[in-house]
Amino acid sequence: MKKVILTGDRPTGNLHIGHYFGSLKQRVEMQYDYETYIIIADMQALTDNADNPEKVRKHVRELAIDYLSVGIDPKYSHIFIQSMIPELAILTVLFSNLVTVSRLFRNPTTKAEVSTKKEIFGNDGESITYGFLGYPVSQAADLTAFDCEVCPVGEDQVPHIEQTREIVRKFNHIYGETLKEPEAILSKTPRIKGLDGNEKMGKSLGNAIFLNDSDEVISKKIMGAVTDTNKIRKDDPANPEVCMVYYYHKLLKNDNLEVVCTECKTGKRGCVACKKELILKMQDFLKPIREKRAYYEAHLEEVDAILKEGTNVSRAKAEEVMNRVRNHMGLDYFESH
Ligand code: TRP
Repeated sequence: MKKVILTGDRPTGNLHIGHYFGSLKQRVEMQYDYETYIIIADMQALTDNADNPEKVRKHVRELAIDYLSVGIDPKYSHIFIQSMIPELAILTVLFSNLVTVSRLFRNPTTKAEVSTKKEIFGNDGESITYGFLGYPVSQAADLTAFDCEVCPVGEDQVPHIEQTREIVRKFNHIYGETLKEPEAILSKTPRIKGLDGNEKMGKSLGNAIFLNDSDEVISKKIMGAVTDTNKIRKDDPANPEVCMVYYYHKLLKNDNLEVVCTECKTGKRGCVACKKELILKMQDFLKPIREKRAYYEAHLEEVDAILKEGTNVSRAKAEEVMNRVRNHMGLDYFESH
């Protein structure tokens, strides 16, 4: 029997190359050797978009198209919509008794989100909702409902996996061996820096190259990328290690990398030429992804059928696990023992 992978994203925006290198690439590579479930976490997206369900709804399909474009293959991966699996909501409620509120407040990822979204949560987090604070509990339900053992995610998700493991241990301790403890697997490049040099490329940070950016947009963004600020003139020597352009040359495995590096260090290469070279590499890299996207955009009925099938298969699996949970907790009232 293959081990189960579960991973996914919130449908709140398009995916960017940070997602690609941070986790999508790994998901694509792993899907052939594992039973793979990919969650489109619309309920989780609503925890900080409750007043904007239209945005979430629109991005469910967009996210599915992003997945299909990078090579997530529905023959191997079940792509499903979180809110269509009611077992996830039931498990969330049952798990919520096994987590303290103070533990949830200490989660570094939710903490960081609260501090970057002051317009929603208030300056001191005074407007934080029960649902948002508790989304790691619902994520524990996502992971356990499919007997997930392996979770390939970006670094920011590790606290949630840790939280899940704690819940599982507590659950199994109280109700008997029932649920599997998932393990996070980080890619070799768990976090990709932004064009502005920020440690994180973020959907809403204005420093990302999206998988569906046009050639013109890619070109404009790369021309504005941060380089060594000590380099004033074109032929000044510079330090590639502090330059985002060099960073992306490395990321895209430019086979000319050593030349890029020495020319930069010796002042033989100006930033504009270096950026132009990167623009071409980036466009080449994104071209096949964009071509696949164009196909699916022209065949939306195919996308919907894939989502429907993925959701049906996933629901059946979650029901199976839910029956086990009911049985072990004694909540299977009308079953004869
Ligand atoms: N928290 C993830 C994100 O912000 C989305 C997510 C929901 C998820 N449930 C999951 C990821 C289960 C991995 C496993 O993108």
